[in-house]
Amino acid sequence: MEKQKDTVKVLFSEQEIEKRIEEIAEQINQDYKGKSLCCVSVLKGGIFVTCSLVKRLTMSVSLDFIAVSSYGKEKKSSGQVNILKDLDESIEGKDVLVIEDIIDTGRTLAELLRIFESRNPSSLSICTLLEKKRPREASSIDIRYTGFVIPDHFVVGYGLDYGERYRNLPYIGIIEEEIHEGVGE
Ligand code: IMP
Ligand code: MG
Repeated sequence: MEKQKDTVKVLFSEQEIEKRIEEIAEQINQDYKGKSLCCVSVLKGGIFVTCSLVKRLTMSVSLDFIAVSSYGKEKKSSGQVNILKDLDESIEGKDVLVIEDIIDTGRTLAELLRIFESRNPSSLSICTLLEKKRPREASSIDIRYTGFVIPDHFVVGYGLDYGERYRNLPYIGIIEEEIHEGVGE
């Protein structure tokens, strides 16, 4: 465990992340005042930001989960989104907020939005903790709430994994190169 901590360079501390999520929650509280909000967390990576965010929301909130796979064991998005676990409830006629850990190419989200839109929600917005600054194929995606815009590095922690490891780190960091190459291969 010590080794894991030593080899991940901190990008955002737990305090920085929580402060930013608090700011976003305040914004969402204003935007959806008096409404009911259906929060959809994208598993597994989205659970940390979801828990931190929804407990700060003051409107009527329901919570649902969807699990998709887009990467498999690769570091790059395959562009193919498989639903591993679908939502429990219908989103028809509801104000929906999709909560994501990170948007990289935007392929996963674009496909998810296509699926959600076909179910006729009243509105559909996106909240992501991280957004990678890079040319995005699915550039038409309108991200309403973004925690941090980051450079194009592979990051872990606060729900984000590399080969299913590192999700438990309370901060977000970049794996030092030699470890990055060795994990999960
Ligand atoms: P996209 O389809 O390229 O936007 O990839 C989105 C998904 O890939 C996210 O929901 C994450 O699960 C994963 N992902 C993308 N970039 C990273 C990263 O830097 N670290 C860990 N997971 C990532
Ligand atoms: Mg992942």
